[in-house]
Amino acid sequence: MGSCNFTVCVTLMLLVMVGAISIEPKIDSRRLGRPNRFWDPLIRSPVDRDDGDETEEGGGGVRWAVLVAGSNGYGNYRHQADVCHAYQILKRGGLKDENIVVFMYDDIAKSELNPRPGVIINHPNGSDVYAGVPKDYTGEHVTAANLYAVLLGDKSAVKGGSGKVVNSGPNDRIFLYYSDHGGPGVLGMPNMPYLYGKDLIEVLKKKYAAGTYKEMVLYIEACESGSVFEGLMPENLNIYVTTASNAEESSWGTYCPGMDPPPPSEYITCLGDLYSVAWMEDSESHNLKKETIKQQYEKVKERTSNSNNYNAGSHVMEYGSKEIKPEKVYLYQGFDPATVNLPANKIDFTRLEVVNQRDADLLFLWERYKKLEDSSLEKAKLRKEITETMLHRQHLDGSIDAVGVFLFGPIKGGSVLSSVRKPGLPLVDDWECLKSTVRLFEAHCGSLTQYGMKHMRAFANICNNGISRDAMEDAFMAACNGHSLEEYTTANRGFSA
Ligand SMILES: *[C@@H]1O[C@H](CO)[C@@H](O)[C@H](O)[C@H]1NC(C)=O
Repeated sequence: MGSCNFTVCVTLMLLVMVGAISIEPKIDSRRLGRPNRFWDPLIRSPVDRDDGDETEEGGGGVRWAVLVAGSNGYGNYRHQADVCHAYQILKRGGLKDENIVVFMYDDIAKSELNPRPGVIINHPNGSDVYAGVPKDYTGEHVTAANLYAVLLGDKSAVKGGSGKVVNSGPNDRIFLYYSDHGGPGVLGMPNMPYLYGKDLIEVLKKKYAAGTYKEMVLYIEACESGSVFEGLMPENLNIYVTTASNAEESSWGTYCPGMDPPPPSEYITCLGDLYSVAWMEDSESHNLKKETIKQQYEKVKERTSNSNNYNAGSHVMEYGSKEIKPEKVYLYQGFDPATVNLPANKIDFTRLEVVNQRDADLLFLWERYKKLEDSSLEKAKLRKEITETMLHRQHLDGSIDAVGVFLFGPIKGGSVLSSVRKPGLPLVDDWECLKSTVRLFEAHCGSLTQYGMKHMRAFANICNNGISRDAMEDAFMAACNGHSLEEYTTANRGFSA
């Protein structure tokens, strides 16, 4: 921060953050995150037993879903809101609670910052999406290890939570949706360690080998989410994946304060994420017995690119078994009888203003800061928090720059650490090296935190260049000079790997 005062810095920051221009979305907002008006769930069950084509296409299998919000904290409201909204869509589609496993920290609805206690919304005009969401894995039980156990149907490996697992059979279909921060090769989790691409792919391979599903579809929203699958995801597991972004770009939050369209004025946090609301609002606007996975992918891709504006949008990517694409979406997300007269794939949309995932945290702090009384103790505390957040970001960015200089010299350091491998190659060849490098860095420089996930590529490139552990350690010690900010030590924050 040094050379500019706080207000100037934050103002500059905000100018950088605010992205695209937009016009009102033309989507039918009556349906967005709203309970269905057209049938009464207590009287008529939406279960798909009236589907003539179900046996043929679905083989009579069960639909399973795993929904994961990888963050916590009110500043990350949007990820849990996304996941709750997804639950409501699946529930209206006829999936049963016993087949939907939800991972969410569950600190949003009851947060003292939530202007509507007990309620979560995912759209400026949306109604509550929180009611009824099963609390399978909350708080400390939202872990990568539990997610793997749940996917594998391994009840004995689950720690805490409801114990619900994907106990699927060979004819079943599984839908996995994840929303959070990420970084090259990793997806965030509210409890350490993060989820590493290689580990997730190994779990999917194991699940395939067990023969306990027919097909699977994964929708993943996070920064650099393509890097979790790039060069790793086999095409023969009967699993189709789309990600919010490619291997080297941010994904975007939307419905944020001060943007168009804004959340209701009492909200100081973003309500959704661009790719996530794109698929969910698409699902709610169409007859999913008619819409194909491919059609949804194309629409979501177009919308998430913010009409080809990649300063405020990202490249939706696809991986895995493309032959799943002609299938209808309802085989995964179910079918809501109220949508029977909706088209297969017609809805137009317009651009939403967005903020990149990493700046959304700052936007939240700033919105909160603005609302507080100047003389309040809370404002002074928040001022300190914002300053420390900025200092910590500088500490991380600066240490990584210095590590580059120590390991590869001042001319090449930056470019070696930031170099992106060709499409089709994984982020790193030796994932255990990546993890141990992350731990070594954190031991000397403090926890990476949500923001620091963006530096995973630097650690991957250190491994890809065959740097010895001793040389790494010397560089980390030199760069961080043996100290990290107290608040961010691994004793306080844990290891991300
Ligand atoms: C919310 O509803 C109002 C009133 O119907 C409408 O004017 C506005 O466009 C809606 N906002 C969004 C983002 O759909």
